[in-house]
Amino acid sequence: MSQEGARQQPVPADEDTELFHVIDPQVFERRLLDELCDLTTRVRTLAKSYAGARFLQELLPNRRAMFYFTQPSTRTFLSFNNACHILGIRTSEIRDRSTSSEVKGESFDDSIRTFSSYVDVIVMRAREPGRAAQAARLMDTIDRPVPVINAGSGSDQHPTQALLDIYTLDRSFSERGGIDGKVIGMMGDLKRGRTVRSLCYLMKNYADVRLVFIAPGQFAMQNDVKGHLEEHGISFSETERLHTVLPELDALYVTRMQSEWDTADECRTVDLRRFSVGTRELGMLKPDGIIMHPLPRGPELDPAVDMDPRAMYWRQERNGMWMRVAVLLKIFRLESRIQCLDPEAFAAQDGDKPWE
Ligand code: NCD
Repeated sequence: MSQEGARQQPVPADEDTELFHVIDPQVFERRLLDELCDLTTRVRTLAKSYAGARFLQELLPNRRAMFYFTQPSTRTFLSFNNACHILGIRTSEIRDRSTSSEVKGESFDDSIRTFSSYVDVIVMRAREPGRAAQAARLMDTIDRPVPVINAGSGSDQHPTQALLDIYTLDRSFSERGGIDGKVIGMMGDLKRGRTVRSLCYLMKNYADVRLVFIAPGQFAMQNDVKGHLEEHGISFSETERLHTVLPELDALYVTRMQSEWDTADECRTVDLRRFSVGTRELGMLKPDGIIMHPLPRGPELDPAVDMDPRAMYWRQERNGMWMRVAVLLKIFRLESRIQCLDPEAFAAQDGDKPWE
């Protein structure tokens, strides 16, 4: 069957769910989240077939992306990079300020403006909070604005991680009514962990979710996030005792101590064994509960847990690539090209699977 033949009814463009800059997780409403999750599944399925992967490759060969990552990154960098390649987007990168004209005194704004001259989207991670927002504001003042994606700003926000976490939760609970009504534990350095902070901001979109924060006192979730949860009527509780709450959790999102933000070795004062998951904790988790982690892991997550089918973090990591493809499709307004396709029809085109 031809690719044209595989088309179904096109989905009309929906202005309410348009995306340009991706800076702040608070702008994501339920409709957009559901649409992104659906798009992610479609892309993930489509990419399994040779014909589907080739179709994706040909969607954006006329676009270029710039990665401006001046803070360390493995997963976010690689998953965005590969998401671009899946769509045929060419990429360039600066991963160290010492190799850019910033060392000659060029301002941040001039550097961003320069990147925008060459590319169609800027993906950036910076140690300083607010940098991605600053870049996006600058873009909004120029003739040829390009979208800016926040790939982690300081210890503040990491919106695309929150999106892939939502997708992982949604996918894991697909047979159990989705995220609505679930009890989600978040454990570790909740004060400085941007992944959990961003994820909390998306929870207002789900009905009857209950959050349980498990953190040492000095690394408890900050008041700005707690205030937001209260404002939106999302129930949460706080504890230092994992074992007391573990049996009631549907998901436990484990995070590492963010020691790079220490000023006086604060992390050393924590008895990490109380905020860790190993095989003993698995024995206390519901049979259909899941363990998530944004990675990289430290001693808080025993590699022995990897063997358990409830360990979801490696899948979560891969989900990130597919979700980032979905985000790029939304930004470049190509979602309807995917939404009207039948991935099965592409699989049927593969015939004798030429890549095997
Ligand atoms: C996280 C980050 O950079 O904030 N990693 C990631 O993007 N997957 C989590 C962390 O570093 O602890």
